[in-house]
Amino acid sequence: MRTQVGIVGAGPAGLMLSHLLHLAGIDSVVIENRSRKYVEERVRAGVLEQGTVELMVETGVGARLEQIGLVHHGIELRFNGHGHRIDFADLTGGKGITIYAQHEVVRDLTDARLAAGGQVIFEVDDVIVRDFDGPKPFIRYHTDSAAQQIECDFIAGCDGFHGICRPTIPAGVLTAFERVYPFAWLGILAEVAPSSDELIYANHERGFALHSMRSPQLTRLYLQCAPDEQIEAWPDARIWEELHRRFATRDRWKLSEGTVVQKGITEMRSFVVEPMQCGNLFLAGDAAHIVPPTGAKGLNLAVADVRVLARAIVEFYRSGSRELLNRYSETCLRRVWKVQRFSWWMTSMLHRFDDNNAFDRHRQMAELDYVTSSRAAAQSLAENYVGLPMED
Ligand code: FAD
Ligand code: DHB
Repeated sequence: MRTQVGIVGAGPAGLMLSHLLHLAGIDSVVIENRSRKYVEERVRAGVLEQGTVELMVETGVGARLEQIGLVHHGIELRFNGHGHRIDFADLTGGKGITIYAQHEVVRDLTDARLAAGGQVIFEVDDVIVRDFDGPKPFIRYHTDSAAQQIECDFIAGCDGFHGICRPTIPAGVLTAFERVYPFAWLGILAEVAPSSDELIYANHERGFALHSMRSPQLTRLYLQCAPDEQIEAWPDARIWEELHRRFATRDRWKLSEGTVVQKGITEMRSFVVEPMQCGNLFLAGDAAHIVPPTGAKGLNLAVADVRVLARAIVEFYRSGSRELLNRYSETCLRRVWKVQRFSWWMTSMLHRFDDNNAFDRHRQMAELDYVTSSRAAAQSLAENYVGLPMED
């Protein structure tokens, strides 16, 4: 098989790249090792920056998002038993975020690609990428035990943190920067109306908690737990008890309980590789970087990468110039590091660190007090949360 761009991974990065290339008349093939059902049901992120929403709407994949997405113009920071609203609309000149599940984004993009005659091949095995240091890279894989090969001009490694593209790059090319946090998030999806109209990020001495939602009937909740926590140690009753404690306010705010329909533990890590490219192989999204989820940035950063990559590839086919391709990594990393900084900052402000001494605890409270009482500090949080402007 021959195509212009071979894409490994049908997550938000791979599918959005394929969609953007198609709109510019460039052919691609996406291969994915999981089934379509699996990727379309995998519960992950839920917050879309304004720029991600605009891109989906402008490129014709925003119909369901506009119909069922929940537009929010603020969040609450809760500490010492009191809530403090950060008003995004006021602080950013009317901007906001949209609550729309990642698997819905994946569904919309997959539907659009297949409806346009695009190739998204699921359930492939034994994927390898080769010869990307020259002009004729190729991807090999198996389907139902038959060997397949895709020859292409470029390979996009959109295969997530545990994918094969990054580790295939020869030793010595990439430098990795990493921080692993001494905690994880236990997340649940519960069949109950959200207890608040907006997201609540709570700093409590027992640990962080987050109230989010998916729809008027579905609540998404997270609580900080130990990094090696076993999900079996958390029966539903223990989860609810802990959530009630961490969200408690002096004015007796009430968290509504419902049937837990999904449960999982997510590790927390900050990770970046530099550069994000090697010859004609370009890494995008989680394949190149991971942020802790506290800033709700992972999915949005993946989309920002492929915007830059699509533009560079389009420019190459239009003019023959590799200038934007050569600068891909440098362009992306400016945003990546700012988003890393924000995600690390939100994480450090809101979580319990077991080695926190009294000084650190006071400093954390001062940070929250500052961010909820200074317009300048609140504005900085708001402009990062709704999404920094795209440099294009
Ligand atoms: P992915 O979505 O990981 O897509 C990569 C795709 O490549 C996957 O479909 C995978 O199956 C496929 N793949 C992997 N290896 C191969 C291979 N060898 N061959 C072919 N295909 C392959 N972010 C938030 O903002 N908030 C959250 O609450 C949140 N929760 C998360 C929970 C979990 C368990 C995880 C893993 C991530 C979470 N994230 C969250 C991060 C966010 O979901 C990611 O940043 C986002 O999915 C990145 O998109 P991507 O397309 O780069 O990677
Ligand atoms: C959600 C996830 C996040 O990581 C976050 O910061 C806010 C909301 C969510 O899944 O809804």
